[in-house]
Amino acid sequence: MHRGKGMKFVGDSRVSATNRKPNIPKDYSEYPGKTEAFWPNFLLKEWLVGAVFLIGYLCLTVAHPSPLERVADPTDTGYIPLPDWYFLFLYQLLKYTYAAGPYTVIGAIIMPGIAFGALLLAPFLDRGPERRPSKRPIATGLMLLGVAATIFLTWESVVQHDWEAAAQQGKIVAEAEFDKESEGYLLYQEKGCISCHGDNLQGGPAGKALVDSGLTAEQIADIAVNGQGTMPAGIFQGSDEELQKLAEFISSVTTK
Ligand code: HEC
Repeated sequence: MHRGKGMKFVGDSRVSATNRKPNIPKDYSEYPGKTEAFWPNFLLKEWLVGAVFLIGYLCLTVAHPSPLERVADPTDTGYIPLPDWYFLFLYQLLKYTYAAGPYTVIGAIIMPGIAFGALLLAPFLDRGPERRPSKRPIATGLMLLGVAATIFLTWESVVQHDWEAAAQQGKIVAEAEFDKESEGYLLYQEKGCISCHGDNLQGGPAGKALVDSGLTAEQIADIAVNGQGTMPAGIFQGSDEELQKLAEFISSVTTK
């Protein structure tokens, strides 16, 4: 007697037999009118779109040239660099108490590590078959939170940044010729002007350039004593004679 004779094999009742299909995609010939030759039709379209974008970018760079700053100076520790816009959120994160100072590791490595690691592992962590965002509340919620946090942090960093000081510190200033041994320059050093206005009177994050100020010696003497805007009063301490020499020196520093 044969084994299994008289026995019927039953399929899995949950899988209907009529719907079983081999897992092979259809051939493109089954989509009449939806195929096209790669050469030249498809490639020509690709090139056309590419050319439109290329010309668009060229027009944009001509209309808005890169904002160049002065030549980078590695000895200038007062220069505050700013990352490009797409990194501003990470930059902003490092300003908060628990992600800065002794906790920098948290803001610089741990938090971005968790966020980007989770993004990388998302296909393995969330294996549900559902595709609609509304049916995947945890994944959708975390993603929305991430997007909102990124937008918020970018926004905050733009609002908090001192754009005027940034423009000032990167400004291209023609270098003025003057004698660094002169009495006026020694006073400029001695009275502390140099710490904010730079060793070449070129200005910096804490003070304006004094080259080509267009001010008279009297006006400069007045500002040195009474301050102006964000420059505090009372910085100059000394005799009237020194003040006069200092003011005359600064007004004489021009590029012309
Ligand atoms: C704490 C930093 C600081 C120090 C120190 C300082 N300045 Fe200033 N100074 C500034 C700032 C900031 C400005 C821009 C003020 C404004 O217009 O808002 C300025 C502006 C000036 C201006 C006007 C420039 C212009 O074109 O309007 C003069 C002149 C000047 N300072 C002279 C001096 C002299 C002289 C000294 C030394 C006795 C000195 N400063 C020390 C910060 C400083």
